[in-house]
Amino acid sequence: MYRTHTCGELRIDNTGMEITLAGWVQKVRNLGAMTFIDLRDRYGITQLVVDENTPDTVRPTAAELGREYVIQATGTVRERSAKNPKMATGDIEIAVTALNILNRSEVPPFTIEEHSDGGDDLRMKYRYLDLRRPPLQRNIMLRHRMAQSARRFLDNEGFLEIETPFLIRSTPEGARDFVVPSRMNPGEFYALPQSPQTFKQLLMVSGYDRYFQIVRCFRDEDLRADRQPEFTQIDCEMSFVEQEDVLEIFERFAKYLFRETLGIEFDYTFPRMPWSEAMARYGSDKPDTRFGMEINELTDKAHGKGFVVFDSAEYIGGIVAEGCAGYTRKQLDELTEFVKRPQIGAKGLVWIRIAEDGSVKSSIDKFFTADELLDWSKDCGAKAGDLMLILAGDRMKTLAALNALRLEMGDRLGLRDPNKFAPMWVVDFPLLEWDDETQRFYAMHHPFTSPKPEDIPLFDTDPGKIRANAYDFVVNGTEVGGGSIRIFDSALQSRLFETLGFTHEAAEKQFGFLMNAFKYGAPPHGGIAFGFDRFCSLFGGADSIRDFIAFPKNNAGRDMMIDAPAELADAQLDELALKVEKKA
Ligand code: AMO
Repeated sequence: MYRTHTCGELRIDNTGMEITLAGWVQKVRNLGAMTFIDLRDRYGITQLVVDENTPDTVRPTAAELGREYVIQATGTVRERSAKNPKMATGDIEIAVTALNILNRSEVPPFTIEEHSDGGDDLRMKYRYLDLRRPPLQRNIMLRHRMAQSARRFLDNEGFLEIETPFLIRSTPEGARDFVVPSRMNPGEFYALPQSPQTFKQLLMVSGYDRYFQIVRCFRDEDLRADRQPEFTQIDCEMSFVEQEDVLEIFERFAKYLFRETLGIEFDYTFPRMPWSEAMARYGSDKPDTRFGMEINELTDKAHGKGFVVFDSAEYIGGIVAEGCAGYTRKQLDELTEFVKRPQIGAKGLVWIRIAEDGSVKSSIDKFFTADELLDWSKDCGAKAGDLMLILAGDRMKTLAALNALRLEMGDRLGLRDPNKFAPMWVVDFPLLEWDDETQRFYAMHHPFTSPKPEDIPLFDTDPGKIRANAYDFVVNGTEVGGGSIRIFDSALQSRLFETLGFTHEAAEKQFGFLMNAFKYGAPPHGGIAFGFDRFCSLFGGADSIRDFIAFPKNNAGRDMMIDAPAELADAQLDELALKVEKKA
C-alpha cells in the first residue's frame, strides 16, 4: 500500500498513529535542526517534520527533496506546537520515520500553490501543473459533483442518457462548424455538432420520450470569457410536453443543483420575464437582476429641443446611479471612454448630477432647463445625490450599450455579489431576427423552434413579430441554458425554412432527414440545454469558464499545452485529398 491516508485527512484525534502518506512536495523549509515539508495531494496538505529525533537514515533523503518531488513518508501523527487554524490538518504534523523518493521533479516553471506567480500563457502551457493547484482542483471537483447531481436528478425523473454522434454533416445552426475531412470519402467532410439538436429530436420520433446527455459541443466562433470552441451541455429533450412542463421540470432541476451543490434553497418560483420586457428594462435578453438600476426610456421627453444628438436618435434612455452625484469629471470621462469602446459603440455619454441640495448640473445644460432635467430625473426615480447617465442612438444598439453601462456601474458600486444568485426565465423570444446586411431573417434560437400558435398568421403579414415558444434560463446576467418547444409538423417546418430563405431543395438537402422523420409520427416535443461550463463557473463564483475545464483552449482557440491546431504532414494531406494554400 502506497499510503494509509490522504494529505487532507489527519486530525488531532489521529495523534499517536503510525501512518504513511504519499504526495507532492509543495514546499521545504530547512531551519537547520528542523526541516518542515508541506506534502500535498488533491485532498489537502500535511506538514512533515524532520528533526533531531528523526532516524539518521531519513536526513540525507530529506536534504535532497525539491519542489514537486513525489514522495512517500511514514511517521507518527503528533500535535503541533504552533497550530495553523487556516489548514484543515493544521493541528497536527507527522514526525517522519521513513522517507522514500518515488520520483524527482524539475523545478516547476511557476509556484504550485493557492496563488501562483505564473502568467496565463505559462500556466496554460503547463496545464497539468496548474491543475495541481488547490483552486483548480476545487473547480474540477465542483464540476464532478454537479455532473453527478445532474445525472441523479435526471435519472430519477426517468430521463435516459443516450449518446449521439460527433461526426455529423454540416448544418447551419448559428455558429460556424468545425469540419473533419473523410479519408474514405475523398473531398467530403464531416462536421462536429454544435449541439445534438436534430438527433435529440429524432430520438423523440423514436419514442425515447425523456432523453439527456452531458455532451461536448463544438462551435467555431469568436471566444470570450464564457465561450470555448468546445464546451459541454447538459442536453435534454422531452415528448408530449408544452413549454410549461419543460419550465416546471427544469426549474426543479436547477433548484436541485443549487441545493445539492451550494446548499442554497429557493422557496419561490423563478421570475419569468418576456423578452420584450427584458430588453426594455435591462437592455439585454439576459438581465442581471441582482440589482435595480433599470433603464428608463426618455425618447419622447428628450426629443425636439434642438439638441441634434437626441433629435436624430431613434431611442434615448438612461439609468440612475444612486449616490453618484459626486462623481468627478475624471470619473465621468472614464465612463464616457467606456461607452465609446468599439465593442459598446456609443457616440458619447450625457450625464445629469442631482446635487444634495436638489440643484442639477449636466452636460446638456445648454439645451434643457433645470426643470426639464428634474422632470426626467423624477420619471426615472432619481433623487438628490444621484447621477443619471443617458445614451441615445439606434434603439437596439443603445439598449445594448445601456446594458453594458449598467453592468459596469453595478461592478463599480459592488452590486454584483458573486455569492448572490438571481435565477430567472426569459420567455417569449421573437422567432426571427432580421439581418440588414444579408436582407433576410435568421432563426433567433434555431430553425426547429415552434412559433406561438396564435402568432402563426403573422407569417403572412409581419414575420418579425412572431413570438416563439422559446425560453432561456438566466442567472446573474449569464445565459445558463436555453431551449424551446419544437415544430413537429413537416408543413410548418417547411414554412419556416421558406421564411428563412431556404429553397425547397436547399431545405431538403440540409434537413431532409428530419422532415422525413416527421412524416412518420413525430410526437409534440421540446427541450433545453444548459451550458454546463457556465453553470460550473457561476457556482464557483468566477466569470471565466476556462478554469472549470481541465484542458481548455486560450482566447485564440489554441491548446497551448499540446500546441494545437497544427499543420499536417504532406502525406496525411494527400491521404485526405486535401491541398493547403500556405498563408503568407
Ligand atoms: P444554445 O445555443 O442556446 O442552445 O446553447 C445552450 C447553452 O449552451 C451554452 N453555450 C456555451 N457555453 C460555452 N461556450 C460556448 N461557445 C457556448 N455556446 C453556448 C450556453 C447556452 O445557453 N440545441 C439548443 C438547445 C435546445 O434548444 O434545446 C442549443 O444548443 O449556456
